[in-house]
Amino acid sequence: MIGKCLFPVAGYGTRFLPATKSMPKEMLPVVNKPLVQYGVEEAIEAGMSTIGFVTGRGKRAIADYFDISYELEHQIAGSDKEASLEGIRRLLDRGVFTMVRQREMKGLGHAILTGEPLLGNEPFGVVLSDDLCLNEGPGVLTQMAELFRQFRCSIVAIQEVPMESVSNYGVIAGEPLKNGLYRVEDMVEKPAPQDAPSNLAIIGRYILTPDIFDIIRETPPGKNDEVQLTDTLLTQAERGCVLAYKFEGRRFDCGSVSGYIEAVNFVYENVYL
Ligand code: G1P
Repeated sequence: MIGKCLFPVAGYGTRFLPATKSMPKEMLPVVNKPLVQYGVEEAIEAGMSTIGFVTGRGKRAIADYFDISYELEHQIAGSDKEASLEGIRRLLDRGVFTMVRQREMKGLGHAILTGEPLLGNEPFGVVLSDDLCLNEGPGVLTQMAELFRQFRCSIVAIQEVPMESVSNYGVIAGEPLKNGLYRVEDMVEKPAPQDAPSNLAIIGRYILTPDIFDIIRETPPGKNDEVQLTDTLLTQAERGCVLAYKFEGRRFDCGSVSGYIEAVNFVYENVYL
C-alpha cells in the first residue's frame, strides 16, 4: 500500500572528513555494501519499490550506484567475480530509482518538501540512511508499514537513549497505547536533557501522510535555523494523530565514527561471515 520511500542524502557528512571530502557519506562501506544499500533493501522489503533520493552536489556516486556499470560488468562477465554483483543487480531489478536535487541545505523538513514531486499525494516512507537498522525478523519499515495499515497516520520510529544524549535527537512524549506504541503528545528537536519530555528518541525511519507537505510549507525554521521535520510532525499530532513506535531490531548510528565502527564489526561477525 505504501509504494514509495524518500532518502534525504544531500547532507555533507562532516564527521567523516576527510573521507567524505569527495565521496558521499552514504557510500561508506559497511563491510562490502554501501550504507545506503542497507536502507534501500529495507524499503524494498517493505514493498516501497519506488525510491526517491533527495541529493545534492557531490552525490553523483549514489546515482551511479543504482544503475548498471556497463564497462565493469562487461569486463567481469563470465568470471567468478560476477557473483559479488548479484545482490545489487537483484535490487535494481526490483526498484525504480528517482532523484531530485536539493540546492540549499535548510533542514530535514525542507529536504522532505524538496522530494514532494517524486512522491505525489500518497503516504510514503522516509529513511535516514545514517541510521542502520537490522533485525532478524521483518525490517523496521515493514513493521511500520504494518502499523500504518491499522492506524493510517504518520508514524515515527523511536528508541530509548541515555538521557545525556537526547540532545542529538528529536524526542517525543506520548500516551502509551499498546506494547511499544505511543500516541504523540509532544515532540522537541534536540532538547537539552533538562528540557527533554522523555528519553524516547526519534530514529531515522518515518511513515508520513502527504498532508505533511502543506504543514512544512507553513512551518518557520526552528532549531539551528532549519525547517525541522520534528516541528511539522508536532503540528500534525496536534491536528490529528501521529504515532511513535519502539521498533524491534538493532540500530547503529552510522553518522558517528564510533557507531559506524560498531556497525561494521556487527555486520562482519553476524551477517557477512
Ligand atoms: C535527524 C532528525 C532528528 C532525529 C535524527 C535521527 O537529525 O532531525 O529528529 O532524531 O535525525 O537520526 P540529524 O541526525 O540528521 O541531525
